[in-house]
Amino acid sequence: MLENPIKPHACEILDILPQTETEWTFRVANDRPVRHGQFMQLSLPRIGEAPISASGFGSGYVDFTIRKVGKVTDGLFSLQKGDSIFLRGCYGNGWPLERFRNKHVVIIAGGTGVSAVKSLVDMMYNDQSYAKDLHLIFGFKNTCSVLFSDDLLRWKNAASFHATYTLDAEEAEGWQKGLVTDFLGSIPFASFGGDYECIVVGPPIMMKFTGLGLLTSGVPEDHIWMSFERKMSCAIGKCGHCRIDETYVCLDGPVFNYTIGRSLVD
Ligand SMILES: Cc1cc2nc3c(=O)[nH]c(=O)nc-3n(C[C@H](O)[C@H](O)[C@H](O)COP(=O)(O)OP(=O)(O)OC[C@H]3O[C@@H](n4cnc5c(N)ncnc54)[C@H](O)[C@@H]3O)c2cc1C
Ligand code: FES
Repeated sequence: MLENPIKPHACEILDILPQTETEWTFRVANDRPVRHGQFMQLSLPRIGEAPISASGFGSGYVDFTIRKVGKVTDGLFSLQKGDSIFLRGCYGNGWPLERFRNKHVVIIAGGTGVSAVKSLVDMMYNDQSYAKDLHLIFGFKNTCSVLFSDDLLRWKNAASFHATYTLDAEEAEGWQKGLVTDFLGSIPFASFGGDYECIVVGPPIMMKFTGLGLLTSGVPEDHIWMSFERKMSCAIGKCGHCRIDETYVCLDGPVFNYTIGRSLVD
């Protein structure tokens, strides 16, 4: 018998790791296949459902790094290890990994946007021959809003990684003060010989100005990839909630090349 593609499954919370006061990582039992950059629909009975990116995954689990902003996420933050949440998916296209192989890869991310690239960065950390090198510019508002502190340190020390971490308006050791866009000039695009790809994820305003900043630095549109968050319902291309013109963000995305994504930037 065919399985209902939108039927959620009860899955146990294996662990909860607070990252900040309002952003926690939930490790949830999962044996379904996950690709880097995909998302799942997380639901609580009688409360609702929300799309959340997989921030990590491995044998028997998937991680979600969630900001508490509304009814579903409030409900999730009231749960404890051992409780169940309902999952369906994974959905979406994920990052185009083959485009990144043997290239210089640049990732610019802000705030919870870092969770949408975390598993990808870890994949390139665990196999440092995958890309020629990896240039990270990750920005947070202040020291209280920093996610994945231990991972940031680990990535900074990786031989083939070049990491710049920024705080919007706070001075702290190991951090640059300013917006991620202030540091685009530090990426040596001219030395890449055209052999590179850029990834941008973050709040809409950050994606807009980072995209424009990359174009100003001479990066061709088709070398830029973005992941978009849009209100969703079915997540399988049926209801039209996420539709913009002919594009279904749930099905055709959430990852888009900038040649298409530029019309989705708010
Ligand atoms: C592909 C994708 C991946 C995502 N990945 C992540 C992720 O990894 N981590 C993460 O934290 N989020 C992620 N999101 C965003 C997340 O799905 C949304 O924040 C979702 O709305 C949370 O659901 P909620 O029910 O908790 O919040 P909601 O109740 O839907 O509230 C969401 C926002 O709307 C505002 N709001 C709610 N009700 C009202 C109202 N009546 N009037 C005005 N404003 C209102 C809230 O203040 C809040 O800012 C992702 C979204 C997409 C599409
Ligand atoms: S969420 Fe239903 S079509 Fe995309």
